[in-house]
Amino acid sequence: MRIVIASNNKHKINEIKEVLPARISLISLEDIGIKGDIPENEDSLEANALAKARYVYKLSGLNVFADDTGLEVKCLGNRPGVHSARYAGEGRNSDDNMNLLLKEMSKCPDRSARFRTIIALIFNKEEYIFEGIVNGKIAEQKSGSEGFGYDPLFIPDSYSLTFAEMSINKKNSISHRARAIRKLCTFLNKIEQ
Ligand code: IMP
Repeated sequence: MRIVIASNNKHKINEIKEVLPARISLISLEDIGIKGDIPENEDSLEANALAKARYVYKLSGLNVFADDTGLEVKCLGNRPGVHSARYAGEGRNSDDNMNLLLKEMSKCPDRSARFRTIIALIFNKEEYIFEGIVNGKIAEQKSGSEGFGYDPLFIPDSYSLTFAEMSINKKNSISHRARAIRKLCTFLNKIEQ
């Protein structure tokens, strides 16, 4: 089975390839000649993921899925959420984003947060949504150098290390994205049997 992933992010594509069964071959946007950024201007993760999947489906007519992730911090009313990448500005700079987060949370006694990934799939013309969540808390300071984005600040529940202090394999076994991808795989496995 061939399926397009609506992303040109090689890190993300490789991470997803690792968890997909071998019989599903993942096609990148580059493979089908779609270059540049896909618009993501919606105000929720669900709407953004669906918009990206629909955009690629319209251009290619192929089965496709797209993902969108946000960090939702309880004491900030679930911000930065859908705006996580550009929280501190258009530069999408992770250090700036984390510094702003620590500043905004300086008076937050409750440091609960979660990463939420939404995957939107268009398969045989039908649309499906899968969600993956990992609950945790925001540390008082950054620790670790693995991973990307807000990893140095995020401590998943039941652990004392941040995502950035864990091996990539460990993070990928418990992450929001892995959980959403597993649901996608379960679905694809079922319908293709
Ligand atoms: P995207 O939808 O996967 O591009 O994620 C949007 C933004 O959320 C990224 O630019 C990161 O700032 C943040 N983010 C997404 N996934 C992770 C993660 O696994 N660790 C840390 N930050 C993440």
